Amino acid sequence: MQYYTLGNTGLKVSRLALGTMTFGDDWGWGADASNARQLFDTYLAAGGNFIDTADLYTNGNSERMLGQFIQESGSRDRVVVATKFTYNAEPGNPNAGGNGRKNILRAVEGSLQRLDTDYIDLYILHTWDQVTPAAEVIRTLDDLVSSGKVRYVGLSDVPAWYAAQAQTLAQERHLEPLCTLQLEYSLAERHIEFEYQALAQNLGMGIMVWSPLASGLLSGKYKPSQAGGEGEGRLAMLANSGNPAFNKFTERNWAIVSELEQVANELGRSMAQVAVNWVANRPAVASVLIGATKLHQLQDNLGALDFAIPPELLARLDAISQPEVTFPYTFFEPGIQGMINGSATVGDKPASYRRPILVEGTGSGVTTE
Ligand SMILES: NC(=O)c1ccc[n+]([C@@H]2O[C@H](COP(=O)([O-])OP(=O)(O)OC[C@H]3O[C@@H](n4cnc5c(N)ncnc54)[C@H](OP(=O)(O)O)[C@@H]3O)[C@@H](O)[C@H]2O)c1
Repeated sequence: MQYYTLGNTGLKVSRLALGTMTFGDDWGWGADASNARQLFDTYLAAGGNFIDTADLYTNGNSERMLGQFIQESGSRDRVVVATKFTYNAEPGNPNAGGNGRKNILRAVEGSLQRLDTDYIDLYILHTWDQVTPAAEVIRTLDDLVSSGKVRYVGLSDVPAWYAAQAQTLAQERHLEPLCTLQLEYSLAERHIEFEYQALAQNLGMGIMVWSPLASGLLSGKYKPSQAGGEGEGRLAMLANSGNPAFNKFTERNWAIVSELEQVANELGRSMAQVAVNWVANRPAVASVLIGATKLHQLQDNLGALDFAIPPELLARLDAISQPEVTFPYTFFEPGIQGMINGSATVGDKPASYRRPILVEGTGSGVTTE
């Protein structure tokens, strides 16, 4: 297992993190306690140290199981526990959810209790609530770091402008900087490439990738059907749930799956391994959250980093999954940039001239500017 430091911190995390949204069968597509324990033990035995949960997952049972497994295995010092707040815990009470100070301070106590620990290694805002000022969030997170209840902080599923504002305020006000952005990223979902990789690289955050297999689609076990798609697993159950994260049975995605299958065959690797390998090696990616409901899935995914995808196969995967370039990004393409540069070639600075901003192997995956 390889480790990176996360963003601009001294926290060392494995490049493959374990996602525990599948710990507990409360949502109808997870792993029961004994299967979840097998997943946890196997991940630790493989050298992994980075485990992600949230107060939302399986109605709190994911945190409860994880806390119990860590206690029973005596691994608290070794494991880096990430959990998240935002989602509402009390219908009818708007302050039992969201990113305001009142909810963050309520939520952290619940997570500490369920995780059976007195500190959280990485505390992450789960989703933008559209109302709370960034200044309130970063000040509250900084207070939690000062209190010792939290070690590091980050954001997930927020607009890029909001993350940039929060990080800039944190830096200017000498508050705890954000070290990570947790975002959906895969061959089937590449929209973060327009804003977030440059954001992470420029402002010292490492990206934690979620749904690297597009909820299982990129494992190749689903096939197109008259109803859109069919196969065994979460996506077949949730494709029509209205949640955009599960709306993956599209013509475009079937074309990506087909190309991925051919590339995986040429490499003699599983499709899941190739999909995880592709995303793990993209700019600014610090760690990829691998999820599983079954042991053989986790074992497969854990083998995703011990090979390299040759450039010609990478080019085929890039081409088939290229996201459509829309405004304003059309203005950053070579045509209009040429009008700005007077058609002169303005290339990268030679390596000797670049200012080092992060040491090799840091979470943002960037070594020079
Ligand atoms: N911040 C956020 O908003 C957010 C959102 C979502 C997830 N997350 C985090 O990211 C983690 C990973 O997300 P994800 O579970 O959506 O990741 P994913 O890798 O896209 O999907 C994992 C699912 O795909 C199937 N699968 C995995 N490996 C397989 C293999 N080798 N062969 C066949 N099927 C395989 C399994 O589901 P089936 O057995 O049901 O097919 C598994 O549960 C979560 O646990 C959570 O910690 C964060």
